[in-house]
Amino acid sequence: MIRGHLTILRPIEREDLDALWRWQNDPEVMHYWAAPALISRDELAARYGGGLSGPTGQAHWLLIATHEGEPIGRIGYVDLDRRNRRAELAIQIGERAYWGRGYGGDAIVAFLGHLFHELNLHKVWLRVEEYNGRARRAYERCGFRRDGVLREHTFLGGRYYDAIVMSLLEDEFRAAHPFVPPGAADPGPP
Ligand SMILES: CC(C)(COP(=O)(O)OP(=O)(O)OC[C@H]1O[C@@H](n2cnc3c(N)ncnc32)[C@H](O)[C@@H]1OP(=O)(O)O)[C@@H](O)C(=O)NCCC(=O)NCCS
Repeated sequence: MIRGHLTILRPIEREDLDALWRWQNDPEVMHYWAAPALISRDELAARYGGGLSGPTGQAHWLLIATHEGEPIGRIGYVDLDRRNRRAELAIQIGERAYWGRGYGGDAIVAFLGHLFHELNLHKVWLRVEEYNGRARRAYERCGFRRDGVLREHTFLGGRYYDAIVMSLLEDEFRAAHPFVPPGAADPGPP
């Protein structure tokens, strides 16, 4: 389990499938997720497989819960590249009532600590659609910088949108979020 100031990141369990299914079928969530997936519970269960949340080698998803235990979203890496020590990050706060309240940013920083301090990555990168101002701002607040633009990369609702590529290097993360060993005094929110 990974503990942030507002969130807990933990393995996905079978009882989380209903929430995951609800988020995956919420048109507003999926508009920002930029993939209007309509997916059955069975398909979702099959996708997560027996282990639900075990690392597959290139991808690993964790559930985001509040400190009170309410499931609110998921975060993970896809496309883990061990040789180049980089991974692509993705996050979805599926409970819309929690948008814009700091939970996403908190989960991202906690997960980045795991990626840089435990998996020893050099770089974490992501893609975000140009129209997703909330996500772009949240990523900037976590220290991500804009690398460039993938022109007309995403087709959604009958038109193309640019996607922005952002990244964060290990030194940049360490400078912004000095490592606190587990069990050491909690420094509190930045
Ligand atoms: C993107 C997402 C993970 C961000 O998490 P969050 O908890 O909502 O974000 P936070 O509250 O940590 O930070 C949001 C920031 O954007 C700002 N913001 C909120 N709404 C905004 C908007 N419409 N446009 C621009 N900025 C906005 C907030 O003020 C905050 O910035 P601040 O800390 O400087 O005040 C979450 O909203 C989400 O999952 N959305 C749906 C799916 C999605 O977009 N996934 C990412 C795909 S790349």
